[in-house]
Amino acid sequence: MWQPELIPWDEYEQLVRSRLKPSRYEHSICVMKRSVQLAERFGADGTRARLAGLLHDIMKNVEPKEMLQFIEDSGIILLYADMCAPQLWHAIAGAAYIRRELHIDDEEVLNAVRYHTTGRAGMSLLEKVVYLADLTSADRDYPDVKKTRRIVDRSLDEGMLYSMKFLITDLVKDCRVLHPDSLACYDELVRNGIHVD
Ligand SMILES: [Fe+2]
Ligand SMILES: [Fe+2]
Repeated sequence: MWQPELIPWDEYEQLVRSRLKPSRYEHSICVMKRSVQLAERFGADGTRARLAGLLHDIMKNVEPKEMLQFIEDSGIILLYADMCAPQLWHAIAGAAYIRRELHIDDEEVLNAVRYHTTGRAGMSLLEKVVYLADLTSADRDYPDVKKTRRIVDRSLDEGMLYSMKFLITDLVKDCRVLHPDSLACYDELVRNGIHVD
């Protein structure tokens, strides 16, 4: 049951610190802060945003083999597109870890972690907040980050479309497999009349 007042924040921060490399821990804290900021700006639940932001990369530094085992043990069947993209596994394994080990059963929080790498059609406000917080947290310094932050601060949907365009183009450039969830995310935004340059 979702009981926000019982969340052991210090314990979770220590857990994240113990499971991640220092730079990844710092990133998690930055994503947590940015998630709260975006939640306030766009009217998402601040507690869920803080929790999902803090925990989103909890499996990031686990060995791929171990991650796959954890996913299998959790009863999750991977799609072919998932198998082709090891960089996505930590999101799937992360949501399973949070449910199994931390006993967090809030579907919104779980989905925000689950879809923070691919996006998907029908994303909730919280899912968009965490996805875009991950991309625009204070520790991010890719060349385009200032423009991405500006777009995200203006509109979550425009931010999602901008990042999907970038993600898909980037994968196509290297002849890599596209994930159906990312394509569905992109399609939905375009069909809804969202546009971004
Ligand atoms: Fe991640
Ligand atoms: Fe991340």
